[in-house]
Amino acid sequence: MNITSNSRVGEIATQHPLSTRVFSRHGIDFCCGGGMALADACEKRGLDTDVVISEIEQTMAAPEASAVERWDSKPVAELVNHIVKQYHEPLHEELPRLEAMVRKVYRVHGDKEPVMLGSLLETYLHLKAEVDEHLREEEEVLFPAIVAGKDKPAPLLNAFVDDHTSVGADLKRIREITGDFVVPAAACNTWTALWHGLAALETDLHEHIHLENNVLFPRVTAG
Ligand SMILES: [Fe+2]
Ligand SMILES: [Fe+2]
Repeated sequence: MNITSNSRVGEIATQHPLSTRVFSRHGIDFCCGGGMALADACEKRGLDTDVVISEIEQTMAAPEASAVERWDSKPVAELVNHIVKQYHEPLHEELPRLEAMVRKVYRVHGDKEPVMLGSLLETYLHLKAEVDEHLREEEEVLFPAIVAGKDKPAPLLNAFVDDHTSVGADLKRIREITGDFVVPAAACNTWTALWHGLAALETDLHEHIHLENNVLFPRVTAG
C-alpha cells in the first residue's frame, strides 16, 4: 500500500499494523475515527501530514514489520478467536482490577483532588459497565453468529460500532481527566500504577476496537 494524504487511517492501520504506534504517539484516532483521511486526521491534531507519512514509512521499514500479523488476510474465525484470547479474556481480569484501584485512590486521596478523582471514578465505572455488557454480547451473540456464517447482521453491527464510539469517548475523557496519564508528583504507588494501568487500557482498547471496526466488521458485511 502506497500511503498518501487521502489514505484512510483505519486502512493504513489494517495494512501496516505497526503504524498504530505512530498514530498512538500523535493521538490520531485509528479505531473509531478510522474512516477519516490521513490529511484530515493530521489537521485535526495540528500535525504535518508529510512528517506523519514519513514516520509511518519508517515503521514499515523496521525489521519486525514483516513478522507482524496481518489480520485482514486470515480466516474470520481465526480473527474472532484472536480478539477473544488477546483482548476479551485479559479485560475480564483487568477491568475489576482497575476498578478496585480507582476506588482506592478516590477513597484515600479524594479529599485532595475531589473533582479530578470524582470524575475519574464516575467515568471509569461508566466505561466498565459499558465494556462488560458489550463483551458479553459479542461473545454470546455476535461472534457465534459471525463464525457460523449467518446472514450479514448489518443493523446489529451498527449497534456494536455505536458502543465502540461511546467507549472511545469515555477513553478520551479519561485521558483528559488524568492529564494525558502524566503521574502527579505527589502520587502514591497505587495512584501511579492506576495511571499506567489506564494508559495501557486505552492502548489495548484502541487496538481491539480497530480490529473489530476496521478489519472484522467490514469483512462480515462484505462476506
Ligand atoms: Fe470485542
Ligand atoms: Fe467490540
